[in-house]
Amino acid sequence: MTFTAQIGNVVFQDIIYNSSGPRCTTLEELRALGESESSAIMMKSCSPEPRDGNPEPRYKEVELGSINSIGLANHGYKKYIEYAAELKEQFPEKPVVVSIVGFCPEDFVNLVTAFQNEPNVDVLEVNLSCPNVVGKPQIAYDFETSDELLAKIFQIPGDKPIGLKLPPYFDPVHTAMMAEVLKKYPISFITCINSVGNTLIIDPEAEAPLIAPKWWLGGLGGDYVKPVALANVRMFYKLLWDRMMIIGCGGIKSWVDVFEHLLAGASLVQLGTVLGKEDTACFARIQQEFYEYMEKKWYTDAKQIIGQLKEL
Ligand code: DHB
Repeated sequence: MTFTAQIGNVVFQDIIYNSSGPRCTTLEELRALGESESSAIMMKSCSPEPRDGNPEPRYKEVELGSINSIGLANHGYKKYIEYAAELKEQFPEKPVVVSIVGFCPEDFVNLVTAFQNEPNVDVLEVNLSCPNVVGKPQIAYDFETSDELLAKIFQIPGDKPIGLKLPPYFDPVHTAMMAEVLKKYPISFITCINSVGNTLIIDPEAEAPLIAPKWWLGGLGGDYVKPVALANVRMFYKLLWDRMMIIGCGGIKSWVDVFEHLLAGASLVQLGTVLGKEDTACFARIQQEFYEYMEKKWYTDAKQIIGQLKEL
């Protein structure tokens, strides 16, 4: 049994793939995703120019998750266009998804334009929620700025599906305000959630924070954030289910987490922290566990589960 999914005309042979997060920056890492059971190859968020990112230490794993402040280390969008060509040749069946960031509206416009014209890229995820660049607030926490940026992005010609990577919201009033903005544009999907930004993990032995950049604050992922992710998936599903797909991301490390994200309203899910911890073997493991449970419960189609949370 497999559950397929479709974003626009792009077919995903399964519903589990990687997030724009760990292990998707270099061509070698992207090839490993192609070879794995990941149902797509998602690339690390790329910027107009290559970036070294923040000083080390900048990524740490702990029992309940991970903390990162990579600071957008990436090879620059032109390299990811080259990588997309190589990946398409080697893995023609796998959707190639790019993640786009910018430091001003023109950056986003230029990169969306470039990728819309790139035949080896299938789907665009516009990242409105990077928490790790000093002095650059997360765009999607500012509804007016987001609206203005989306107006520019959705004027660009092109037929590739565009989605947004959103930060977690912590108040349903804010979720509803963002949903009102999103309704104005032909957005194919939203990915909920990016890491919970600007958190502090302390190593009590060392009496020190785990990471160095940005006053030692970083984006939190893993078990810690699953309830936040589920709340965001659910609230946006309730508000937008008839307009765009929700992609669940946050705290998924086993079949039960996939199942919960689908019940909340996700149509596909992304793996981040667990990919960092286990490497690409996590895709086959989680898929197998998930399908065993589906068979046990006689589910044959993801549509029987998506959004079907039994509300009290
Ligand atoms: C980085 C972290 C993010 O959460 C994100 O969305 C983009 C970039 C980073 O630190 O590299």
